[in-house]
Amino acid sequence: MDIFRIHGGNRLNGSVKVSGSKNGALPILFASLLCDGEVTLQNVPIALRDIGMSLRILETLGVESEVAEDGSVSLQVTDSGNTRADYKQVSQMRASICSLGPLLARRGEAIVSLPGGCNIGDRPIDLHIHGMEALGAKVTIENGYVMARASHLRGSTVYLSGPMGPTVLGTQNVMMAAVGADGDTVIEGAACEPEVRATAGFLRAMGVKVEGDGTHEIHIEGQGRLEGAGCLGATSFDVPPDRIETGTYVLAGAIAGGEVTVEGCIPSENSALLNLLERIGVSVEVGEKTLTVRGVDTVTPVDVSMLPYPAFPTDLQGPLMALLCRGTGVSLITDKVFPDRFNHLSELRRFGAKVRKEGPIAIIEGGAPLSGAKVMASDLRASACLVLAGLVADGITDVNRIYHLDRGYERMEEKLRGLGAEVERLPEQVVEQDLDLELV
Ligand code: UD1
Repeated sequence: MDIFRIHGGNRLNGSVKVSGSKNGALPILFASLLCDGEVTLQNVPIALRDIGMSLRILETLGVESEVAEDGSVSLQVTDSGNTRADYKQVSQMRASICSLGPLLARRGEAIVSLPGGCNIGDRPIDLHIHGMEALGAKVTIENGYVMARASHLRGSTVYLSGPMGPTVLGTQNVMMAAVGADGDTVIEGAACEPEVRATAGFLRAMGVKVEGDGTHEIHIEGQGRLEGAGCLGATSFDVPPDRIETGTYVLAGAIAGGEVTVEGCIPSENSALLNLLERIGVSVEVGEKTLTVRGVDTVTPVDVSMLPYPAFPTDLQGPLMALLCRGTGVSLITDKVFPDRFNHLSELRRFGAKVRKEGPIAIIEGGAPLSGAKVMASDLRASACLVLAGLVADGITDVNRIYHLDRGYERMEEKLRGLGAEVERLPEQVVEQDLDLELV
């Protein structure tokens, strides 16, 4: 396992190019199961572990893939005999549950291990199951697997919000299943995240009529049971840029800039972040596909809640917390999507940050000086929070378990170095030797 060693204190300056969206690409990779012809995707963040893992799962499901260095991936179903996605792979990645909908639509059966993913609190899949049942599938949980069968899916009206609001992957999963149903499906209480729009865009590129994506009511025209060649032809699709990676580099610029320009992004997808930054005194210049942020030494404290899109995204909660440590007073963060997603909080304390949790609220007393520390990444976005804190902490920070970060940020150390940060990737053994020396 690698670590990041960060020498804090360098001002970041220059430009960083954002990669294709991880959460946009993953469901689309699984949607290739629906297609008879070859699917070609551009701008796929191929360096990410979650992308590699998805391609391996798809391989077991009879999808051959070819990955080019420029980020294009072509996929072709060559064998539709298998309907089982195994524990070993699925348990490592939440998005693999998105094989459920396409397998049901195309092969009439899906046996998918209950998914894993980031350790950010309880993550049930009851809404996914409810959606499949509403389309006529019989679903049971046996030995840790979701077993879903449907000789015939029927279009239906499905309400997909739960106690925590709409479900992003659940919406995408049911959309993909609905493609193989007889008759139209209406998803009410749908998630309206840009990643849902990307899935809808891909389905449209395959020739499926989808309307209402980006709102809470999505209509999908069923194509009937997809059997035989020629149902859904060859298609090509561009994965949009990653709005969470965009936001992370904007926050890095706010914490440690200088002046940082994030290139190749869609600024309107980060409106909630830009609005918050304006409120707390961070200036951001908005271009057509760029965001330029100037660093600050302090920010105005704020009370902010993470909510479904278009509100402030839960995936930027950790990186935001690193910035709020520079507040001139007390900031409050409530995560209403994942109320327990505060693993980074205790690690931030190692830097000297004054942060604590009371019930579902994180309390950040800004202004405490941050000093470099050995910290442990616990999940993807918590890792980004720790890296951002390390950029401004005085001295050396070692962020352990960087494999979490590699799931969702392409070559982050190279991108940060390009901005002038001192960040290196080291194998863990090197660091253990250092630790031994310190203990002696
Ligand atoms: C996706 C993103 C993740 C992001 C999250 C919320 C991917 C691969 N991951 O995860 O990065 O943080 O959206 O924006 O795209 N819930 C239920 N029952 C369900 C499903 C979800 O109660 O069947 C709850 C969840 O526990 C959570 C809330 O609904 O509290 C939202 O979860 P959901 O939108 O489903 O998250 P994911 O799609 O898994």
